[in-house]
Order: sequence, then structure tokens, then C-alpha cells
Amino acid sequence: MEQKKERMRFLYNETATHYDDRYLPIQSQKYQYVLKKIELQEVRTLDVGGGSGLFARLTGRITDVVDISVGLLAQGVPHCSECNWIAGDGENLPIRKGAYGVVVSFSALQNYPDRKKGLLEMLRVLDKSGILVVTALGKSMDWKELETLAKGVGMNFDRLDLPIEDVGIVGGKERKA
Ligand SMILES: C[S@@+](CC[C@H](N)C(=O)[O-])C[C@H]1O[C@@H](n2cnc3c(N)ncnc32)[C@H](O)[C@@H]1O
Repeated sequence: MEQKKERMRFLYNETATHYDDRYLPIQSQKYQYVLKKIELQEVRTLDVGGGSGLFARLTGRITDVVDISVGLLAQGVPHCSECNWIAGDGENLPIRKGAYGVVVSFSALQNYPDRKKGLLEMLRVLDKSGILVVTALGKSMDWKELETLAKGVGMNFDRLDLPIEDVGIVGGKERKA
């Protein structure tokens, strides 16, 4: 498991300087879809597996970004001085329970060796009335798997029909499906 994470970290660090050029237009479509669909409170937001912080940059939200790749985090730093850039593992978030009203994670969960642990961690750091948005690359994780995972951790959720690539859910601890 740790080997898989090390490999992931290595690959994202190696390609970090090209990430924004390559993925900004695609990721932007996902964020726009989510923000149109869901009213996210103007509270401090955590982006898990947030890479270079494109979500913060493109939406203007003050966001704390956790990622396993320091190379990607470094790409984001000049773009948001109010953001916190946290090197960490999504399966063991270095964050206290219930710390955030909004938690997002775009196109990252499919990378985790233990996806259930990753989802549980996002719920742990979410406030009891908070909103969690999770998407994963559809080529590596299909809707059925994401739905089974979300049901398995007792999450209330709705399906997101993203316009491109990803499968997704929005929900939380108290939100009605
Ligand atoms: C496709 S990128 C998406 C990045 C960002 N969410 C975006 O919208 O641009 C996948 C991200 O997952 C991160 N990642 C992979 N495994 C991780 C882990 N175990 N913990 C935290 N981040 C991880 C990668 O470093 C990478 O930044």
C-alpha cells in the first residue's frame, strides 16, 4: 500500500510543473458544474487531494489544500496567499475532527489504495452539518463503486452527473438524500 502511495507521489511530483497547463480546462468544467448545482456556504473549505489548488484558484474560495505531492502544492502557493498548503495523506488527514463546513475532493479518491478509509477521513473532518463533494475519475472508479462506498460509510448523498470524466457525490452526515 505504502509503495503505491510512494509511486503516486513520485509521479505527481515529476509532472507537477505541467499539471496546470494540462488539466486546468478539464478540472474547471467539473468545478463549474458543482458550483452551479450546489450552494456551498462561504466558509473555509478543505480540498483533499487538491494538488496545485486549482479549485481555490478558479473559484476564488479560501481553501486549505491537502495533497500527497509537495511538488503540486508548490505550484499553487504563488496563487493563493490565504490558503494553507498541507502535505499529507488523504487516508490519514492531519486535521482535527469536524474542522470544516465544506470539504471537496476532485478526481483524487481513485488514487487511494484504501478508498473507504479516504472517504471516512473526509467525513471525519467535516462538521456535522457540513457538505462534502467527492468526485473520482470514472475510468478508474465507476458509479456503482462510489455509491457502494458512500452507502457503506453511512453517508447521506445525492449523485452528481458531472459533464466530463468523473463520477461524483454530494452529501454529508446530516444531509437528506
Ligand atoms: C488528478 S489529480 C487532481 C488534483 C486536484 N484535485 C484538481 O482538481 O486539480 C489527483 C491528486 O490526488 C493526489 N493524491 C493521490 N493520492 C493521494 C493521497 N493518498 N493523499 C492525498 N492526495 C493524493 C495527487 O497527488 C493529485 O494531486
